[in-house]
Amino acid sequence: MSFTDRDHETWRLLYRAQDTLRGEQLIPEFASGLKALGILGDKIPDLEAVNARLQGLTGWKGVSVAGFEGPEHFYKMLANREFPVGHFIRDQKDLSYTPEPDVFHDLYGHLPFYVMPEYGKFCEDFGTRGLKYLSSPEITEAFQRLFWFTAEFGLVKTPKGLRIFGAGIASSNKECAYALSGKPRLLAFDVETIRNTPFRIDLIQETLFVLDSAEQLYGCLDAFEAPYR
Ligand SMILES: [Fe+2]
Repeated sequence: MSFTDRDHETWRLLYRAQDTLRGEQLIPEFASGLKALGILGDKIPDLEAVNARLQGLTGWKGVSVAGFEGPEHFYKMLANREFPVGHFIRDQKDLSYTPEPDVFHDLYGHLPFYVMPEYGKFCEDFGTRGLKYLSSPEITEAFQRLFWFTAEFGLVKTPKGLRIFGAGIASSNKECAYALSGKPRLLAFDVETIRNTPFRIDLIQETLFVLDSAEQLYGCLDAFEAPYR
């Protein structure tokens, strides 16, 4: 991955916009993950340096990719403990929007979660199971919905109140503010509801699912997969 000075400046602006509220908005494990991986606000981190730390912790690593990964490649990567990291950064003209997952969304938003061993185990298992159903567009869509409403846009109850659990929210200042504003429709996490709930990637998320705990997500895959076996 090679980035210009302007790209690094974009990273600084994005990181700074999240800095002050991170502790109040996100699960505490997110900030610990950033720290553990050496993901700082001064410049776009070197992926190899981040990977050296991440692989030592949980065996996961980020892999540089051009943009969106289709389900087949994405699930293969997850099953192999790899997470795709966009090799570009969004335009500075519109910091709150990226048409495809960029390095800020993937490296800042997703990778810190993978310092949690149980989270990594869940995603690996999710990918392994998802690979079995690629011949069925409906089942694959259900798998996409589960990932979307949890790893990307999940919320979770914590002793300190409702916190952001999804990388799609964590990496967007706008989504962070909106998710906790009381405006979105909040539904209790439920695999039956999620598999039947469509989503749009190009709009602010007006329906969010709330986990009672991260463990609720980590333990949901048998029930989620049951109708497809
Ligand atoms: Fe993502």
